[in-house]
Amino acid sequence: MGRTVAIVGATGAVGQDLRRLLLRRNFPYDDVRLIASERSAGRRLQFGDREVTVQALSEPDVFEGVDVALFSAGGSRSREYAPQAVKAGAIVVDNSSAFRMDADVPLVVTEVNPQAVDEMRRAIIANPNCTTMASMLPCKALHDEFGLVDMVATSFQAAGGAGQQGIDELLAQMPTLLAEPELLRRDGAAAAKLVEHRVHAATLAFNVVPWLGSPAQHGYSDEEMKLRDESRKILGLPDLRVSPTCVRVPVLAGHAIQIRATFTRAVDVDRAIAALGAFDGLEVCDRPTPLEWAGRDEVAVGRIRADLVDPHALNFFVVGDNLLKGAALNTVQIAELLIDRGLV
Ligand code: A2P
Repeated sequence: MGRTVAIVGATGAVGQDLRRLLLRRNFPYDDVRLIASERSAGRRLQFGDREVTVQALSEPDVFEGVDVALFSAGGSRSREYAPQAVKAGAIVVDNSSAFRMDADVPLVVTEVNPQAVDEMRRAIIANPNCTTMASMLPCKALHDEFGLVDMVATSFQAAGGAGQQGIDELLAQMPTLLAEPELLRRDGAAAAKLVEHRVHAATLAFNVVPWLGSPAQHGYSDEEMKLRDESRKILGLPDLRVSPTCVRVPVLAGHAIQIRATFTRAVDVDRAIAALGAFDGLEVCDRPTPLEWAGRDEVAVGRIRADLVDPHALNFFVVGDNLLKGAALNTVQIAELLIDRGLV
């Protein structure tokens, strides 16, 4: 067989999950290459029953002999090094936003649009944004049944979506504010100033922050625009109407999204629940919460309600672990798909 898999960003949060998932899912490989920055080069990491020395991404020939390279080291590293990996003969599965909207690069949620890998023209496949990813499973299940035309989506995103630094900032704020219950109730603005925030747009502990990402167009953030643009590409619905709002909440892992979806056909709730329950990778449950879903592979959908005014609309609440299905798991599933299709 002689298959070599590389992880770029192997020491990071997603990289750790990639290592764990390749082993847990018995990914068929013969050799593994763990790649990170020069800071980590030379470190030895356990991978199953072997010890692997971390190599620097800048090392010449680091992709020589690699068949599939899983990139999760940030967009600028992907832009610079993914083409080099491809030149060396690898197929790249990229977890950054660098290539997602490139017309020659499939953007794949494995349960939703696996056939898109056949349209790969640059030997690069992109892994979607974590909030979009979780939303796509129920949206596709319902689209097949009723014909999706409109989606109002409001996310509740975990601190961990901003990486380890996002988690560290939230945890550092907690003890100070926990000691100030009176101030939190009587003068929240003064309480918020007792701690520092750099990663999140405002103090996140004991709070809800209606902004994440960078400014894009018309008062929306780039995170919100990803939800619109990536949903359209994944579902193959270029005219899909999307009204996105992304909100940061003081949760460590697990994103949640409230969606009001509108369809061409009238919605029958029982049929909707049956379609959601039968969809691969989805689990229907009454009231899913991010805390109870952290560490789980499946995406949960609950609070499935007919709309109060529009018989063509349905309301539901989606929860998924942003590091698993939202990142590492789908990346590994794409690599498995490439093997199944004989592309690697
Ligand atoms: P390193 O640990 O050597 O810095 P996270 O998103 O959890 O911060 O992880 C980012 C991942 O991307 C880490 O594995 C990190 O490696 C890697 N990385 C960051 N900057 C670079 C770089 N300039 N070259 C290669 N890998 C990088």
